[in-house]
Amino acid sequence: MKNDNETKVVNDLTKIFICPYCKEELKKNKELICSNCKRNFHITDNIPQFTDIDEFYEEKFIKPFRASIISKIYAMLLNPRLQYTNKVLGKDKNKNVKILDLGCGGGNYFFKKENSEVYGIDLSVTALKSAKTIYDYVAQADAKHLPFEGNHFDYILSWDLFGHIPFEEKDSVLKEIRRVMKNKAKIGMFIETDQQNDIYTFAKRYPELYQKYFIEQDGHIGLESSTKVIERFEKNGFKIIFAKPLYTNLFIPTAEYIKRFNNEYKEKSTKLKFFINLFVFLKKLKLNYPISFLIEFVGRKLDGFSKLDDGPIFLCCEKTNQ
Ligand SMILES: C[S@@+](CC[C@H](N)C(=O)[O-])C[C@H]1O[C@@H](n2cnc3c(N)ncnc32)[C@H](O)[C@@H]1O
Ligand SMILES: [Zn+2]
Repeated sequence: MKNDNETKVVNDLTKIFICPYCKEELKKNKELICSNCKRNFHITDNIPQFTDIDEFYEEKFIKPFRASIISKIYAMLLNPRLQYTNKVLGKDKNKNVKILDLGCGGGNYFFKKENSEVYGIDLSVTALKSAKTIYDYVAQADAKHLPFEGNHFDYILSWDLFGHIPFEEKDSVLKEIRRVMKNKAKIGMFIETDQQNDIYTFAKRYPELYQKYFIEQDGHIGLESSTKVIERFEKNGFKIIFAKPLYTNLFIPTAEYIKRFNNEYKEKSTKLKFFINLFVFLKKLKLNYPISFLIEFVGRKLDGFSKLDDGPIFLCCEKTNQ
């Protein structure tokens, strides 16, 4: 039996989505068909597929961001992405607003409030099957061809997508975002960047390893400095409301150290090897969370004293009248 949410998605597909390529109406048969350019789009598990499957992402970032009690406490105290997202949404977060999560992966429970209508797009159908259980509408689509009418959204939220967009496609993505935003709409984005801090300075001393573990591991093929990101947004018709550097120092989660350096990098420094082995050991004892908590508690306080290019950024902006 279908749940309410699922039924809603099936019934509304042609009302919600348009052809992402020519922006005309869709008709539903077994598939969605564009009334103008006649492109056909498959529907898998009620998820319209507007672009090809990307094997790299299909199974990669599929877990939802959950709102369990522990993650709520942790998030409120130490997750600056969430704190800044809440700041962007302000009092609106419980109101009847339309939110688009770009590159939503498995979805985020913190983005979906009672009265808001949340839409997610991503390249991975597997991730979207999870996001669909949280959000009102999801579609497999490329951020540079959005399947929505113009002037549709009050908020565009996006965590860790923009660094995955190739340099030459970034302006097209911003143009599409601008198109689907209402006039007073706001963007809240967490953006991975090319950073000037001790971790990146060390990592870049070994270009092959940097390419393997900092760029290719996650698909961070479009990392640019925070300053460049801001210039790009301004050039594309956005006004920055605030831009905050995050994770700017050595006090970052132990999981991040393990992910980046528990490999050939370890052999490059005895100090690094000691800490990576220690973090792996603590993880085995399930002590990684309390330790990470303490480390991050210090680190996130220090972020406040850092320069923009020292870490990734959280960006809040709105449209200019250009
Ligand atoms: C690092 S994950 C972030 C997922 C989620 N936002 C989160 O915070 O956990 C990046 C996501 O962006 C998606 N993605 C990458 N390039 C994309 C594009 N051009 N259009 C839409 N989604 C894209 C990937 O499929 C992946 O799920
Ligand atoms: Zn079309």
